[in-house]
This record gives sequence, C-alpha cells and structure tokens, in this order.
Amino acid sequence: MGQMMPPLPALVPQTAPFSPAQRAWLDGFFAGMLAAEASPAASAIVPAAPAQEEDFPWHDPTLSLDERLQLAAGRPFERTLMAAMGQLDCGQCGYLCKTYAEAIAGGAERDLTRCVPGGKPTAKKLKVLLAEKPVVALVQAKTPPVQAPAAKAEGTPAGYDRDRPVLARLLRSEPLNAASAEKQTQNVVLSFAGAGVEYAPGDSLGVWASNYGEEVELLLSILRAKGSERVTLAAGEELSVREALLRRCNLREAGEDLYRLLSQHAKDDIEATRLAGLAAEDPESGEAGVHDVFDVLVKFRSARPPVAQFVASLPPLQPRLYSIASSQRCHPGEVHLSVAVVSYELHRRGYLGVASNFFAERLRLGRRVPVYVQRAHGFGLPVDPAVPIIMVGPGTGVAPFRAFLQERAASGAPGKNWLFFGNQHRDTDFLYRGEIEGYLKRGVLARLDTAFSRDQAGKIYVQHRMRENAAELWRWLSAGAHFYVCGDAKKMAADVDAALAGIVAGQGGMDASTAKRYLAELAKSGRYQRDVY
Ligand SMILES: Cc1cc2nc3c(=O)[nH]c(=O)nc-3n(C[C@H](O)[C@H](O)[C@H](O)COP(=O)(O)OP(=O)(O)OC[C@H]3O[C@@H](n4cnc5c(N)ncnc54)[C@H](O)[C@@H]3O)c2cc1C
Ligand SMILES: NC(=O)c1ccc[n+]([C@@H]2O[C@H](COP(=O)([O-])OP(=O)(O)OC[C@H]3O[C@@H](n4cnc5c(N)ncnc54)[C@H](OP(=O)(O)O)[C@@H]3O)[C@@H](O)[C@H]2O)c1
Repeated sequence: MGQMMPPLPALVPQTAPFSPAQRAWLDGFFAGMLAAEASPAASAIVPAAPAQEEDFPWHDPTLSLDERLQLAAGRPFERTLMAAMGQLDCGQCGYLCKTYAEAIAGGAERDLTRCVPGGKPTAKKLKVLLAEKPVVALVQAKTPPVQAPAAKAEGTPAGYDRDRPVLARLLRSEPLNAASAEKQTQNVVLSFAGAGVEYAPGDSLGVWASNYGEEVELLLSILRAKGSERVTLAAGEELSVREALLRRCNLREAGEDLYRLLSQHAKDDIEATRLAGLAAEDPESGEAGVHDVFDVLVKFRSARPPVAQFVASLPPLQPRLYSIASSQRCHPGEVHLSVAVVSYELHRRGYLGVASNFFAERLRLGRRVPVYVQRAHGFGLPVDPAVPIIMVGPGTGVAPFRAFLQERAASGAPGKNWLFFGNQHRDTDFLYRGEIEGYLKRGVLARLDTAFSRDQAGKIYVQHRMRENAAELWRWLSAGAHFYVCGDAKKMAADVDAALAGIVAGQGGMDASTAKRYLAELAKSGRYQRDVY
C-alpha cells in the first residue's frame, strides 16, 4: 500500500502569513517533495526529466579535504581536482573552484598555489593528483578549454579582476574592539575616488598587500644580497629581488622548490640530506620548527643559494579577500572592511598575517594599495526589497550584513531584517555596536539576537540563539525570508547549518533527510546563501 502523504496544512498552516504567490510556491514545493518521498513508484510515472544536471556533492566548504575527495571518487579527473579546492567559489584564484580545476586539467593554468582558502594542503594535493595522472589529465578534460585569468582580465574593466587592480587610498583604520579585548578587528576605510569602481552589497574586495619590509631586509642580509639584483619570475615579469620579495613572493610558505634549491646549495651534508627529504615530502625528514621561509634559512645555515634563484623558488603571493562592509549608497567612493588581525605563535616564534597586519599597522593613512572588486557568486540582497532577510554573522562575519543594513536603510526597503551577531564579549567585541543598536531603535532591524560566547561559564553561540527562536525563525522562513550566513567556514557554518536543519525539521514536522532536502532546495532557489571563509 502506498504511504499516506502528511497533509499539507501541517507544513503550510492557513494562518501562516503568506501572500497567494508564496503559498502557491510552498504548496508546490512540499507537494513535489513529499510525493517523490512517499512513493518511489511515483517517480516512474513522472515524465523523464530533461538532461540531468551534474551535481557536485563535495562542493561544501565545511567538509574536510579527505571527505571531499571521497565524494569525488570515480568522477572525471578535473572533478577530483575540483574537490581538492577550498569550495568557497570566492574567486580569489581568478576562477571558480570548478573552472580553476578545469584550467589545471586542461593545461591552461600551471600555478597550483592559487587557492588561498585551501592553502598548502590544496596545493600539495593538486600536485600529487597531477603527478599520478599527468597524461590522463590532458586527455580526460572533456570540458571546453578554460582561459587563464590573465587573458580574461584583458577584457575586464580595471578594478574587477585580480590581474587588473586599481589603487585605493587608506582613509582610516580604526579599532572595532575595546583596547582590553583579546582580539583585534579593524574597520578599514579605503577611498576609490576617481577610479569609477562600483560594488554591490555582498561583493568582496581583493587586496594585494605587501610583505613586511623588515622581513625582506632580513632575508636579503642572510643571503648577503644587495636587493638590486634582477630576477625574472615565472609569469615573465622582471624586477629587483627586493621588489619581488616585497610584492610578489609568499614568504609564509616554505615549499618544495625552495627545499630542493637549498639542498643543492647546502655545504653541510646532513642539512643537504634533510632538505632533499623535505623537498621529496619524506615524512621522516620532519618539518618541526619550520613554518615559513625565514625559518628555513635560520634552520639550514649552510644553504645559501644565489638570491635570484632563491626568489624564483618561492610561490607567488596571492591577493586576500575581505567581505565589503559598506553600501556605496551611504559611502560613495569608499569601501569599508572589517579585518580581523591575524597573529599566532608557533615553535616559540610569533607570526603576523600579511594582509590583516598590513591594514592594521603598516599601511599609512593616505597611502595606496592595489585592490579590485570580487563580484559575489550567489551572495546578495533579494531583488525584491520587501522580502524579509535573516542574517547570521558572528565575528567579522557581520561585515556584509552591515552593508546589507546600510543599503536597506538607505533605500527604504520595506522587507524586515533580523541579525544574529556573536563574539567573545559584549563589552569589548560588539563590532559596530552603535550603528547596529541604532538600526534596532530606528526599526531597520526588526530583531537583533546576540551571542557573547565568553560572558558566562558555558559557551553561547549564534546557533543557540537560533534554536531559542525556532518558531519565529520558521515563521520568517515560511514567509519567504532569505537566510544568510557569513564568517568561519570550518566550524561555525557547519554548526549553523545543523541548527537550521534541526529547526526546519522540528518546526516543519519533517524528518532529518526531508529537512536536509528542504535546505538544499532553499539554497538552490537562492534563499539560503553563505559567504564563509
Ligand atoms: C570570501 C572571503 C571573505 C573574507 N572576508 C573576510 C573579512 O571580512 N574579514 C576578515 O578578517 N577576513 C576575511 N577573509 C579572510 C582573509 O581573506 C584573510 O585570509 C585573512 O585576513 C588572513 O590573511 P593574512 O594575510 O592577514 O594572513 P596570512 O598571512 O594569510 O596568514 C594566515 C594563515 O596563517 C596560518 N595560520 C593562522 N593561524 C595559525 C595558527 N594558529 N597556527 C598555524 N598557522 C596559522 C594559516 O595558514 C592561515 O591561512 C575572507 C576570506 C574569503 C575567502
Ligand atoms: N579561514 C580564515 O581565515 C578564518 C575564518 C574565520 C576566522 N578567522 C580568524 O579568527 C580570528 C577572529 O575571527 P573573527 O573575529 O571573525 O571571529 P571568530 O573567531 O569567528 O569568532 C566569532 C564568534 O564565534 C564564536 N564561535 C566559535 N566557534 C563557533 C561555532 N562553532 N559556532 C558558532 N560560533 C562560534 C566565537 O566564540 P569563541 O571564540 O569564544 O569560541 C566568537 O564568539 C581572526 O584571527 C580571523 O582571521 C580566520
């Protein structure tokens, strides 16, 4: 006997605040979903679907590299390469995850270090995958050849591509945390004046920061170099080694090319053997105590190659992306960023993030930096200004939502806005507090729920606040609200997703797999959007 479908009113009550169009959409959505679920036979009488869309089950930044590769097992080579990427589609590499993989598989792109979110593990995995299948790679790539970004950039106006940046001037870099806070976040304000560059809420800014001048001078003195020596980089650019170290090289990564070069120049046999082992990624060699380029030179004191060869062996510096935290309606000619300053300790040495510290302390007021607008890939305000939105943005995740709120306030959008914000302490880490509380007072924010994780004995996170407000959240979703998440990809986004699925299941009377499919549909229709990193 066929399974009975649950009555639709259980999911779409007559009292629910829907317009006729929303009710029709929801009725259709649930009817289709539940019919398919109730009877496998039902799908047999449904006319054959048009050509099946390719799915990318690994395309989820909350999955680990191993999980992603497992999900891509058995797929064409370029899809395996895609699974090794960071899955953010952030555009930092100049492509999307899929097209970067296709460009590598097709031979148009040789730089395997462009995926900043994936970092070293992605670069290493790409190398291993290519080494395993070099010939198949070229034959199997069935997709049309993908253009290298430099070629694409030629047709793009300046300011919208990593290869055609414009110069922006630093107007302000002001702390968003109290001086006593455990972390540092800066509101960075840049001027685009005269560049004619425009952005929309949801877009990010790509930034070409430069390395620390002191660190570069230290490397030059260790190598007994003047700095004026010339070097030609892989991209064909010829410049002085000082310029290259400042603006073109990634000094935070000791890669195998550097290890190989140093092993060839090491005067000490033990060092040469260890360096050769590190180049071959022999786990026995042990990388202990070596995190960046400076560490390698300090650790292997007998290895001093010619400076130009040293510079040419370093991976290229990549741009950093920051979610834009302003609306151009409110701040014409300006772009605001919320930058968390990265600083950490390893092996009893302190390391500072390149771009975040560049903004926090090295870039002087009035000085200029090359930047470009990275258009959002499926992250932005609803086209209809009357559609309600729910925004979940702990920490710097609040950045794009400040832009959303500024835009909606300035345009008088009638749609309701609900913000979930979280950070360590209310007193020290409530980023943009005055502005956000002002929005609440003025009614721009219909709801504000905060989760200060370290103000009490147990942790309270944004997802706890979501669960406390499950019925209301479900009412908003049922009324057609868009749901947005921004911030940490690895833990927060996965936990918020799980909380949302639980709320949908509990409030919508669905089992776990139906709730998961509900969220998948929500994402597909553009109503569940994430900008996570
Ligand atoms: C789409 C997108 C939007 C983003 N938006 C924002 C934003 O709005 N605000 C924001 O602050 N950031 C944002 N980021 C992150 C930002 O791009 C940079 O990655 C971040 O600022 C760090 O850059 P950095 O150059 O300062 O640090 P880097 O020099 O790149 O150093 C960071 C790297 O150091 C290493 N590292 C860090 N901590 C440790 C540790 N404890 N132990 C060992 N290694 C460690 C890791 O490899 C890490 O990737 C976004 C990223 C993306 C992809
Ligand atoms: N991939 C990246 O480059 C990346 C991404 C995000 C953050 N960061 C780094 O983290 C530092 C600060 O970042 P940030 O200011 O944006 O804030 P954040 O570290 O993301 O923290 C914001 C708030 O989220 C809480 N939180 C921690 N785990 C969570 C989880 N699983 N679910 C929900 N909330 C959770 C934190 O609580 P507790 O801290 O009390 O647990 C804190 O209250 C910076 O150094 C930044 O660069 C890096």
